[in-house]
Amino acid sequence: MRDPLDRIIIFDTTLRDGEQSPGATLNKDEKLTIARQLARLGVDVIEAGFPFASPGDFEAVQTIAEQVGTPDGPTICGLARATGADIKAAGEALEPAAHKRIHTFIATSDIHLEYKLRKSRDEVLAIAPEMVAYAKTFTDDVEFSPEDAGRSDPEFLYRVLEAVIDAGATTVNIPDTVGYTTPTEFGALIGGIEENVRNIDKAIISVHGHNDLGLAVANFLEAVKNGARQLECTINGIGERAGNAALEELVMALHVRRQYFNPFLGRPAESEEPLTNINTREIYKTSRLVSNLTGMFVQPNKAIVGANAFAHESGIHQDGVLKNKLTYEIMDAQSIGVNENQIVLGKHSGRNAFKTRLKELGFELSENELNKAFLNFKKFADRKKEITDWDLESIVNDQIQQPPELYKLELAQVSCGDRLRPTATVTLRTPDGEERTEVALGTGPVDAVYKAIHQIIDLPSELIEYTVQSVTAGIDALGEVTVRLRHEGRVFSGHAANTDVIVASAHAYVNALNRLYGAMQSPSFSAQAEPSVTSRV
Ligand code: KIV
Ligand code: ZN
Repeated sequence: MRDPLDRIIIFDTTLRDGEQSPGATLNKDEKLTIARQLARLGVDVIEAGFPFASPGDFEAVQTIAEQVGTPDGPTICGLARATGADIKAAGEALEPAAHKRIHTFIATSDIHLEYKLRKSRDEVLAIAPEMVAYAKTFTDDVEFSPEDAGRSDPEFLYRVLEAVIDAGATTVNIPDTVGYTTPTEFGALIGGIEENVRNIDKAIISVHGHNDLGLAVANFLEAVKNGARQLECTINGIGERAGNAALEELVMALHVRRQYFNPFLGRPAESEEPLTNINTREIYKTSRLVSNLTGMFVQPNKAIVGANAFAHESGIHQDGVLKNKLTYEIMDAQSIGVNENQIVLGKHSGRNAFKTRLKELGFELSENELNKAFLNFKKFADRKKEITDWDLESIVNDQIQQPPELYKLELAQVSCGDRLRPTATVTLRTPDGEERTEVALGTGPVDAVYKAIHQIIDLPSELIEYTVQSVTAGIDALGEVTVRLRHEGRVFSGHAANTDVIVASAHAYVNALNRLYGAMQSPSFSAQAEPSVTSRV
């Protein structure tokens, strides 16, 4: 008999489903940085990737298992289709983790069975428990997902769930893969599982859902009321198509409205004990880190972590808040870790102060990385008097995010103004060490720089997004530039920060082209040009 779980397990899939957002591809170091921050945030489970999908994914999961999967750290999970090869790869990649979980899945909706799997219900009913039993040979902690559960016949779903629990699944995850269900329907689906699956007391019910109709978070909250005790979510809600349920929204809804949710978890309504293990004060930092490293901006009006989430514009609201915050605020910005934008360091700050502050911000750099970051900090401090935490994060994220420097920007110079045609001179060092300089005219300075870069790195690609954002207020603020390029259906992003937005623009563009160039060198590149079942779930 399962103990009734009186708290919610947070399963973060930013590094797996989140990374499936077009253009959000992360390299191993970026994934490790995010995984470390997720551990500080207090997530219970990190789904670190899909080891069978590529050698890069395997290595990233293995590294996270080794370095973040410590005895007092989170459970590290790897995704696997219900096939022997996938499960074996996941088991091997997760080997170094103190607490490891294999998450295996197979579709159960008729539409997926007929068109995608070309399998009968009986075949799926045989494969699912067999693969769960195989996963159990690598770890006791096995999660099973009936993909597209939201559109599956509930009676068939109950039979599959019973079979996988008998085979040893300790968590059964119910995905609304296409974001189709409504809150009442999804709640009823979970309630039906609680009632009709004979052995459900031997497993934890989890939910996973996409945001195609903007309902993922609402669906999950109804699921909690009906017995779900694990929520699969991502930071900033990133993920396949319209994304996944956003971790920060779920956690803060459960936190702010705990008196409403407590009774559904068998607690007295007035209990102040948190419903999740999340340290909410780490939410904002985690959101910025994920946004910077994936190049996926957070919309200003996004709940909890958007720039306007705690801003009051109307005079009536401002007046009310000044008299008493509770008039228009249901939570405190500090509860998610939005501090005053403290001035922490300046030009005279030493290496030790720099290192200590970075550590407090959650960055653990190697000696080499620290030296490089300190040099960047010093250069920056020459131009900007007051360096804030946000500036520091930006400097370090910028450094972590660099793809291998195949092409290196040596010089970017522009002349422009209302009487001049924007003209750029760019010098790049090519991967074989040659220095090349090109000059180009453009409609504006950034266009001129990009044309000059293109004359050197002649890779067919379409610039589909260019954004520039200031990290802090003030004329001397760092400008962060993010670009996205599309090549044969795949998206590559680049990110850079500098007080000079033209220089940041040049670096961001070269970074994105380096990612594209690096991917083109890989033998599997053309096979991956169209997302496949192996690389995308
Ligand atoms: O959306 C989905 O169904 C998934 C499964 C692999 C859980 O991502
Ligand atoms: Zn998904």
